[in-house]
Amino acid sequence: MAMLKTEEWYDLARQTNWTPRYVDKQDLFPRELSDLHDLPDDAFDVFDEPYKVTYRDYVRTQREKDVGAYSVRAALARGRFYENAAPGWKALLQLHFGGATFLEYGSVSAFGRGTRFGKAGGMRNMSTFGSLDEIRHTQVHLRFAYDYLGKSRAFDWAHKAPRTDNWVVISERHTFDDIEHTRDATSFAVMTNFAFETCFTNLQFVALSADAARFGDHTFATMLQTIQSDEARHSQIGEPLLRILIEHGKTVEAQKLLDISFWRCWKQFSPLSGICMDYYTPLEHREHSFKEFMQEWVSDQFIRKIIDLGLDRPWYWDIFLEDLETFHHAQQLGVWLYRPTGWWHAVPGVSPEERDWLEQKYPGWNETFGTVWDVIIDNVLEGRLDRTIPEPMPMICNMSGFELTGVPGKKGKVVDYPLDYKGRRYHFGSEVDRWIFQQEPERYAGHLSLVDRFARGVMPQNAEAVLQYMDMAPEERGTDGTNYAWVEPYRRLRGKAA
Ligand SMILES: [Fe+2]
Ligand SMILES: [Fe+2]
Repeated sequence: MAMLKTEEWYDLARQTNWTPRYVDKQDLFPRELSDLHDLPDDAFDVFDEPYKVTYRDYVRTQREKDVGAYSVRAALARGRFYENAAPGWKALLQLHFGGATFLEYGSVSAFGRGTRFGKAGGMRNMSTFGSLDEIRHTQVHLRFAYDYLGKSRAFDWAHKAPRTDNWVVISERHTFDDIEHTRDATSFAVMTNFAFETCFTNLQFVALSADAARFGDHTFATMLQTIQSDEARHSQIGEPLLRILIEHGKTVEAQKLLDISFWRCWKQFSPLSGICMDYYTPLEHREHSFKEFMQEWVSDQFIRKIIDLGLDRPWYWDIFLEDLETFHHAQQLGVWLYRPTGWWHAVPGVSPEERDWLEQKYPGWNETFGTVWDVIIDNVLEGRLDRTIPEPMPMICNMSGFELTGVPGKKGKVVDYPLDYKGRRYHFGSEVDRWIFQQEPERYAGHLSLVDRFARGVMPQNAEAVLQYMDMAPEERGTDGTNYAWVEPYRRLRGKAA
């Protein structure tokens, strides 16, 4: 039988649409799930994603990627890479696998929404591949984390995290429930495919896989590369939908979706990627600072794309640029100090050489964040470890789920951005987090951060109860990843000075 060439059937197949006769169109594509922007049906006819693939090609390519990644893993499995890895790299792997795996799994159903409720045939087609991609991402994360399970219990969090109320998990859920799981398919595509995947997963996967390759972690680097190549394809669902929104006079709505999702992702990736790149990656294997990566990927490439589309930089750009210099440094302090609340074994990453690097990349670091580390160093050197693990809970932003922080030192400030809504006071870590709440208060009202749960007596009010509430078994609670060896250079320096 003669076979049709791909180009002879592809466009027809990928754009298949039909007029329903047995159900109403509104029942087939309910507004809340398909398109809250009330675009006319024929608006979606022009949906055209730039990266086209057939199912046959898709399966072949994915198989090749998996074979590649699993072969690297098998070839290196008998080495003692993990045992010999620097403590910072171990912390990075533990944090990544615990924090990212369930997001991959969640994305399976998020794409499912695009497959079922997307109004463009091409979008449904691409979203189907997207769900399959995310299933593979979940599997590869779980499988590779499993290899390390015998080395550290932290890797159990690849599986366990979503069933807990750990503070990091609460924060992730709040963000990704918002942009991935509770929006109509059109808004989802802008917020997840465009803002989250085009911009931020690039950062975590491209930048981190480069660091991993330099560090010699070829298993992790290959895994990240196979995922990134899927992202490069399925993230392209977002841009055609943005164009459709703009062409139909919905520029204001499109801008707002972008502004909200960009900030929400920023607040997740700043601590995740920022700490991994600027503190956990061993100094000799760092190529760029987190800020430099962000400047290249975001300030340059992503913003140029936004402007080409006819949109603007988010209104809070100046606030973002300030945050880029500070937020992850402040969170690194909090993450290390509150280490028993994390499943990974955090490292400070503030040796004298690392501080020089931080000062060079972030001028003023020593006078600000460095002064807090100086106090910590004094306490560790004096054997006062109790002073390095605070008992009181920090104030937590009711949008990002992260500690309210500022810049320490002479110019120090921590600002709370409160808002009263229906008899309750909410606290936010920035003007932007508060602005997001104000855009749709009913979406966010009622959320209880970990501190809210504590204050309202959802859990008994002592530190041990909080750890139990977060499902942190005693042997899972984070400790210092170097067993405080990091402080030894300072002991020697002081010995010399004395
Ligand atoms: Fe993914
Ligand atoms: Fe993805």
